This record gives sequence, structure tokens and C-alpha cells, in this order.
Amino acid sequence: MIGTRKKLIGLVGAISVIAGQFAISPIASAEGMSAVEKGKKVAFNRKTGNCLACHNIPGGQAPGNIAPALIAMKSRFASKEELHEQIWDATIKNPESAMPPFGKHGIISEQQLNDVVEFVWTL
Ligand code: HEC
Repeated sequence: MIGTRKKLIGLVGAISVIAGQFAISPIASAEGMSAVEKGKKVAFNRKTGNCLACHNIPGGQAPGNIAPALIAMKSRFASKEELHEQIWDATIKNPESAMPPFGKHGIISEQQLNDVVEFVWTL
């Protein structure tokens, strides 16, 4: 009886070790994320880019509509550099812009901004 119990405990231990490995895997895949995927996270996160507060973006939930939908970006911007400038500081193009100057004011990091540009460029 005791022997069976020990085996059972051993089995439970083995299962939790395996489960533990599965629990780690999402973190591992987060590290392996592409710039586009990371940029999407930053853009959709309410505490970082929060672009959805104002923009409708394909795949995003509960967007605001005070700004144009972020679609067909390649037809609206000649290059990624131009798009980068818009997100870095929207007041360069429109001094009255309601859009926060994400780069200039350090709202998100330069790395996050580059990832957001990669993501938005795909829209
Ligand atoms: C507080 C509202 C607000 C937030 C938040 C916001 N924007 Fe904007 N955005 C605007 C407005 C308004 C415009 C329209 C142009 C202008 O007024 O500057 C705009 C314009 C743009 C444009 C140019 C669209 C075009 O076709 O000309 C891009 C690209 C853009 N935003 C990307 C983003 C990204 C990416 C984020 C998140 C990191 C973001 N915006 C967050 C308000 C916002």
C-alpha cells in the first residue's frame, strides 16, 4: 500500500515537472516573437501604445474613432521612415494633432516604437 502511495506521489511529481515545462514555454515563445508581433502587443496594450483608444486597427477590440483607421498604410506613407516620424511626433505634420508624440515624449521606448512601426507597416 505504502509502495503504491510512493509511486503515486512520484507520478504526481513527474506530472508537475512536465506541467512546469509547459508553463515556461509561453515565455520562451515571447522571447522568440517577431518585431511585428511585439509591435502589435505594444500598439494594443492599454498601458503602452494604446493606439486603439483613438484608432480602429484590424484585430483590435473596442477601438475609439477620433482618428483614421490604421489600414492601407503603404498607400498613405511613402516609407517606413515617414511612418516612424508620424508615430515619433505627430505634431511635425500637424501641430494641432491630438495624437501623443510617442517617441519625442518617451511614452514608449525607441525599441517599442520601431516594433510598432514594423507592425503598422503591415496594415
Ligand atoms: C489620443 C488619440 C490618439 C492616439 C492614442 C494615437 N493616435 Fe494616431 N492619430 C490620432 C489622430 C487624431 C490622427 C490624425 C492626424 C492628426 O491629427 O495628427 C492620427 C494619425 C495617425 C497616423 C496617420 C494616419 C494617416 O493616414 O494619416 C498614424 C500612422 C497613427 N496615427 C498611428 C498611431 C499609432 C501607431 C498609435 C499608437 C502607438 C497612435 N496612432 C495613437 C490620434 C491618436
